[in-house]
Order: sequence, then C-alpha cells, then structure tokens
Amino acid sequence: HNEISRVKNLDKITMGRHVVEAWYFSQYPVEYAHIPMLYICEFCLSFFAAPKSLERHRHKCTLQHPPGNEIYRHEDISFFEIDGRKQKTWCRNLCLLSKCFLDHKTLYYDVDPFLFYCMCLRDDRGMHLIGYFSKEKESAENYNVACILTLPQYQRLGFGKLLIEFSYELSKKENKLGSPEKPLSDLGLLSYRAYWQETIIELLLNTPEEISIDEIANKTAITHNDVMHTCQALQLLKWYKNAHVICLSDAAIENHERAKKKRRRKIVPSSLLWRPPV
Ligand code: COA
Ligand code: NA
Repeated sequence: HNEISRVKNLDKITMGRHVVEAWYFSQYPVEYAHIPMLYICEFCLSFFAAPKSLERHRHKCTLQHPPGNEIYRHEDISFFEIDGRKQKTWCRNLCLLSKCFLDHKTLYYDVDPFLFYCMCLRDDRGMHLIGYFSKEKESAENYNVACILTLPQYQRLGFGKLLIEFSYELSKKENKLGSPEKPLSDLGLLSYRAYWQETIIELLLNTPEEISIDEIANKTAITHNDVMHTCQALQLLKWYKNAHVICLSDAAIENHERAKKKRRRKIVPSSLLWRPPV
C-alpha cells in the first residue's frame, strides 16, 4: 500500500439516475479500479464494471430501501437504522461508496461496531439513498456521529443539516450530549458550524428569559464545548456585571433569518419512533 495506490482510482460512478465523479481513493477490488465508470445498484449498493451487468442484476434485485428498520418517516423523508453486524455486505458497500467522497486516512472495514442511519427520499420507484451517518454502538468519547455523508448529487440542498439534526434528536432520546468524531473535514466543519449557529440562535430567539450555556446544551444535546465555541464565534458572549451573559446581536439575527429562509426541511421529533438500543 504505497502512496501511489492511494491516488483517486475511480473516475465516475453511476447510481440510479445520477452520474457523479469520485473525489478520493476507495478500496474497491482491483478488477474495479481504474475503469472509466463504476455502476452501482442504488438499493443494494452492489457494484458492477459494465452497464449490462447492472441491468441483469436489477432484474433480480428486489430491494427498494436500505435493509433495516424504518425509524422515521415524515413527508417524503425516511430514516433507516442498520446494524453493521447484521448487514455486513450492505454496510461495507456503503463504506466503499462513501470513501469515494471522504479523505480520511482510516476507513472502517470492520462495520460490526457501528449503526448506520440512512436517510432516503421516497418516490414511486422506491426509497432513494440521499446520505447517512454512522454511529459507534459504544463511544467512549460520547461521539454521536462517526462518519457523515450527503451523496454528491444531493449536496448543498440542506440534507447535511437534516442528517446532523437527526443525530442530535437521537442524542436527546438517549439523554446525552453529543459531538461528531474529530477531525472533521472542511465541508463537515462548515456544515456543523452552520447547524450549531442556526440551532442556538433559534433557541435564544424563542427563550425570552435568561439562559445559560448549560441550559442551551441540555435543550439541544450540543456539548458545552460546541455551544461555547459557537457563541464565541458569533461574538454572543458579553461580560456584564462580573459574569458572562449571552446577547444576541442584530447581525446574528439577520444572518439567522437569511439561513432560515433557505432551510426547507426540518426533523419532526414526533415522527421518530425509536428507543436507544440496549
Ligand atoms: N461550500 C461552502 N459551504 C458549504 C459547502 C460548500 N461546498 N457545503 C456545505 N456548506 C455549508 C453551508 O453553510 C451550508 O449551508 P447553506 O447551504 O445554507 O449555506 C451548510 O454547510 C450545510 O449545507 P447542507 O446542504 O445542509 O449540507 P450537504 O448536504 O451539502 O452535506 C456534508 C454536508 C459535509 C455532509 C457533505 O459536504 C459531504 O458529504 N461531504 C463529503 C463527506 C464529508 O466530508 N463528511 C464530513 C466528515 S466525516
Ligand atoms: Na440515487
């Protein structure tokens, strides 16, 4: 495994109706490396080197959604929980696909310790995978997300924020505070910062009485550290009568109103039918 073999190997990937370009190296078997187009079954995530092979497969493949429990449904969005130990092949295929868009040095070939939360968009042909995040079944650091990805064909539409919002809804049900595994990618950090800002400012706007960092953390499931950093970045912390107070600025409110107009979808907590796995 020298450096050369780590150079991006795949060029393009076909998935359902979409063709996307791979960004990074992914460890598909050698016979699939360096071909001009990889053909992926959008439901079972099996991969093929030729369109004919995919076509033959599509006649046999009956899967129309990820192989797990549907734990959330609101309008055309569904979430499925998939256990890496029970669905090894599917989860490994998901990791291979997502590695194409993740620049991490390490990739988890061992999917057993993870749960995968897959977000789908439903239409009359099935449940189309938009993105997912993985989560360790036991995280010593209390991370609530290991890897997070929106497939490139669905990026910049607010789905990343929706995935993040969902991860915090799970943490709320667990009565825990959570934070994503570090290091985050540049895009990951941008998305988390945008989510933290939006969530904290929304809470402040809806809370007429004074609120502490502690209370913000408990209401949002965002860790104290992430709340503090967000408030600092937005310059919301003021020193007043010998204590820190949180003060909304006009600039922060204006930014918030702008971001809110763009955001089309929100997670509806009452549509989440889930209990923490025991
Ligand atoms: N340039 C600038 N800002 C960006 C950006 C980009 N390319 N992509 C996201 N952002 C910021 C923006 O503030 C955006 O909000 P806005 O569109 O309202 O301005 C916010 O992040 C969230 O965007 P959103 O559309 O909800 O996210 P997404 O669906 O595009 O998904 C990732 C975000 C991180 C999941 C996606 O970029 C991705 O899968 N990247 C590859 C994998 C990865 O790096 N994962 C994180 C590390 S594990
Ligand atoms: Na698709």
